[in-house]
Amino acid sequence: DTRITVAIDGPAAAGKGTISKAVAKKLGFAHLDTGLLYRAVGAKVLAGVEAVEAATSLTAADLEATNLRTPDVAQAASKVAVIAEVRAALVDFQRAFARRLGGAVLDGRDIGTVICPDAEVKLFVTASAEVRAERRYLELTASGHDVSREDVLADVKARDERDMNRAEAPLKPAEDAVLIDTSTLDIDAAVAMALTAIMGKT
Ligand code: C5P
Repeated sequence: DTRITVAIDGPAAAGKGTISKAVAKKLGFAHLDTGLLYRAVGAKVLAGVEAVEAATSLTAADLEATNLRTPDVAQAASKVAVIAEVRAALVDFQRAFARRLGGAVLDGRDIGTVICPDAEVKLFVTASAEVRAERRYLELTASGHDVSREDVLADVKARDERDMNRAEAPLKPAEDAVLIDTSTLDIDAAVAMALTAIMGKT
């Protein structure tokens, strides 16, 4: 029986997404980017829907909206993410996904602390704010967004601040999380560290 859950948390642009996808592929596990749930709610709020209403009526189609990776949606996501009722509306879906037969990787901010406190493996992926902002800047400009380095760094810091200091499920490492600082690691090295940590725990 392989109902193994891998919880990967950390701040914006630390490399969670890249590591999660690579690890899920390597292990044959399903992957859920939980940030997408909050982004989908944030996008609905920007379109005029009330936040809790948006969270309780979320559909698969909302997660496939094409404009969820923009800076505006990221900020809106971190604003709706402070609302307890919004978070509560998304819990069951995430927990059901985590217990899928065949294994699951979930990445977010509170997977190891709140959503899956019993996850077999917990990783906390970080990097300095400057390194993260530079990565996000390169991603955004490569996908055609007209942004400045200063604005991207300010956005990353504003989101860190909001995510770490909220009352509900704040961003922090679980006590039993393995820390991976990707500031000076390339993708292959970071993925190798994650896989080593997972193999050691399963
Ligand atoms: O990971 P991503 O940058 O897409 O997440 C967008 C926002 O959603 C985060 O800044 C955070 O406020 C929120 N989030 C959260 N809990 C999660 C995943 C994302 O609060 N598990």
